[in-house]
Amino acid sequence: MTNARDLKINLQRRTVVAGVAAASAHLLAPMSALATTKRATTTGRNKMDIDRFVADCVAANEETNAQAAINDILARAVSEPRNVLAALGDPVKAGLTVFLASPTLTIFAAAWTPQMNLMPHDHLMWANIGIYTGREDNIFWKRTSDGIKAYGADALFVKDTAMLPEDALHSVTNPLKRFTGGIHIYGGDFFGTTRSQWNPETLDEEPSDGDKIREMFRRENERLGIGMDS
Ligand SMILES: [Fe+2]
Repeated sequence: MTNARDLKINLQRRTVVAGVAAASAHLLAPMSALATTKRATTTGRNKMDIDRFVADCVAANEETNAQAAINDILARAVSEPRNVLAALGDPVKAGLTVFLASPTLTIFAAAWTPQMNLMPHDHLMWANIGIYTGREDNIFWKRTSDGIKAYGADALFVKDTAMLPEDALHSVTNPLKRFTGGIHIYGGDFFGTTRSQWNPETLDEEPSDGDKIREMFRRENERLGIGMDS
């Protein structure tokens, strides 16, 4: 397989930036209704300020290279994963916690259950992913005259970030037997944009929408015996 870095999937891994370990990266769909339960794991003065983080991203979104500017902010945030966990709590079920949903920027925390898989999908806008707990494995796909084909892969660990271009297609797996949590940022109206997903077995393309994503998360929590209102 070709290394994803050679294909403009820009990943940062444990790079030292401004004296701190840079981080992070990845996906998904509409579902404020699936907000994960917040359970603080630590307390104290080093808790991530989510409102400040969102405001910084909104301001950076006005810069010429907004995706890179926002990734710098994301990398700084996940370089201190304990601070993120202090603000968000350990993930306890599959779901999204939406911080911002606007026409030009979408920000949420995504929680994957142990060994959860997400089928190939597109975003139709740039996407940045930062991991603050667990691990997220990505397979990158491309459209061909014979359907989509896998062409690259990368594993994102805590403190890693990734910047995916507008035309990126990827599938995601949490390979761990514990939850993975990441902050996901999109350069547009993620929940209001009709995208595509591909059947994981046949690779047939089908529309992706909020109802399908909600059902996927519901089934995933059901698989683990987790109530949606827990
Ligand atoms: Fe994605």
